[in-house]
Amino acid sequence: MNSENVSICEKIVSSSYIRQGSQARRSHEQLIRVLLEQGKCPEEGWSESTIELFLNELAVMDSNNFLGNCGVGEREGRVASSLVARRHYRLIHGIGRSGDIAAVQPKAAGSSLLNKLTNSVVLDIIKVAGVRSVASCFVVPMATGMSLTLCFLALRHKRPRARYIIWPRIDQKSCFKAMITAGFEPVVVENVLEGDELRTDLEAVRRKIEELGADNILCVHSTTSCFAPRVPDRLEELAEMCAKHDIPHIVNNAYGVQSSKCMHLIEQGARVGRIDAFVQSLDKNFMVPVGGAIIAGFDQSFIQEISRMYPGRASATPSLDVLITLLTLGAGGYRKLLRERKEMYGHLAQELRKLAETHGERLLETQHNPISLAMSLDSLQRHSDRAVTQLGSMLFTRQVSGARVVPLGNEQVVSGFTFRGFMSHSEAYPRPYLNAASAIGITRDDVALCVKRLDKCLKSLRKEGCSEETAPPAGEDGCESSFSFPRPLLPSPDDSTSVKCRNTSAFPETSFTAADF
Ligand SMILES: *Cc1c(COP(=O)(O)O)cnc(C)c1O
Ligand SMILES: *[C@@H]1O[C@H](CO)[C@@H](O)[C@H](O)[C@H]1NC(C)=O
Repeated sequence: MNSENVSICEKIVSSSYIRQGSQARRSHEQLIRVLLEQGKCPEEGWSESTIELFLNELAVMDSNNFLGNCGVGEREGRVASSLVARRHYRLIHGIGRSGDIAAVQPKAAGSSLLNKLTNSVVLDIIKVAGVRSVASCFVVPMATGMSLTLCFLALRHKRPRARYIIWPRIDQKSCFKAMITAGFEPVVVENVLEGDELRTDLEAVRRKIEELGADNILCVHSTTSCFAPRVPDRLEELAEMCAKHDIPHIVNNAYGVQSSKCMHLIEQGARVGRIDAFVQSLDKNFMVPVGGAIIAGFDQSFIQEISRMYPGRASATPSLDVLITLLTLGAGGYRKLLRERKEMYGHLAQELRKLAETHGERLLETQHNPISLAMSLDSLQRHSDRAVTQLGSMLFTRQVSGARVVPLGNEQVVSGFTFRGFMSHSEAYPRPYLNAASAIGITRDDVALCVKRLDKCLKSLRKEGCSEETAPPAGEDGCESSFSFPRPLLPSPDDSTSVKCRNTSAFPETSFTAADF
């Protein structure tokens, strides 16, 4: 409301009240002005009313909300359901313009502003999280795998001869498929075992580069965040190697924004060598629904090239969700979540170590992995081969999601490529184990309950062997799910005393996802 309208209000309601009211309104507007001026994540989070005021102001700038608009085009932002309109704050036009996801949409000044502001706020947060020298980024309404594909496709034009992508092995299907879908041939480089840890085999990468010839290699595709006992790739050395041989370097930083260590690796890699782009998931790092990713890099023109590869317009929903989230949390709130996550990592490690000892197991020594932990299952394996896979399904029934049991000797064919020892990032990891992760948003209760249930499962497995429960095969999703589940889910309450052995043959097998990252 402008001052003219305020003075009209003063004729209706006592002017001192109106003045106070318009001052209150101005303090919301002040926050919005700072955001528009600086394009940074506010230090302190906003209230919902400020956010909604802001979103409404953006929405009335889009043509679908013009009062006098008459549309005769094929895409006029018409929405049949008002529930759908509200779900999107009446921002219906999406983002981008055919041929560039970052371009301004003439029909939608508000949505275009939303898009630019989101990218700018997200860039700020990437700096806050540790990659201080990042130059440019954009939000894409696709999950991490497809966003990696987009990066590879953008490189194709620069390196028309290149066929291969060098990829230190990580057993996650989507990043493997990202390369296949882009039309390239992944060159899988096995990891080396150092203590309990699986680390990048730099010598093998070097040999591959020499063998294939730099010109035939599209890029090196490395990974930060991953399941223990694999640890983040040796990014500095890989980046140096890429710089030396003039080979692009794309980093899969799927859930690495939440870890200062992963972010530091990227910052350092770019400082001493070459990183062309790094890709991170929105849902895994910012607690929003699945569906978006951030493509970021150190050279603005390359990042722009990628955004120009995107054909057509795109959904604004992931941008809207992450903007609302970051405005709600503020940079301070996000930092606090990062701090708490790190604390919980220490706590989870301590609790798992204690638990492992009481069951004749041990927490694997994987200090270089800042998020995921692994506990050995040797003694369970000695007790019975099937007990290891059974543990996976028992945990799932008890609603422990994300705990991932990795048995020995899984074999999995992904897009024609056979992975021996699938899920373990290695052809022959010496022992079965169980993963748990301290990811953003995890609470002390999550840790306590998980450890308690895990304790119960381990006890009862050793007691009875539970031979009737079908030992489930590895799930369809491979690394994402450790087993498939043979019957409808009837999660037992936490204090159920013992594991029942059920005959399950009557039910069809349905596979499902145990760990969703
Ligand atoms: C989550 C994840 C991906 C990609 O998964 P999307 O479903 O495409 O977001 C890739 N690599 C790793 C290591 C991941 O954790
Ligand atoms: C306020 O007054 C102006 C006239 O100056 C008018 O154009 C406008 O529509 C009014 N309403 C609001 C919400 O500003």
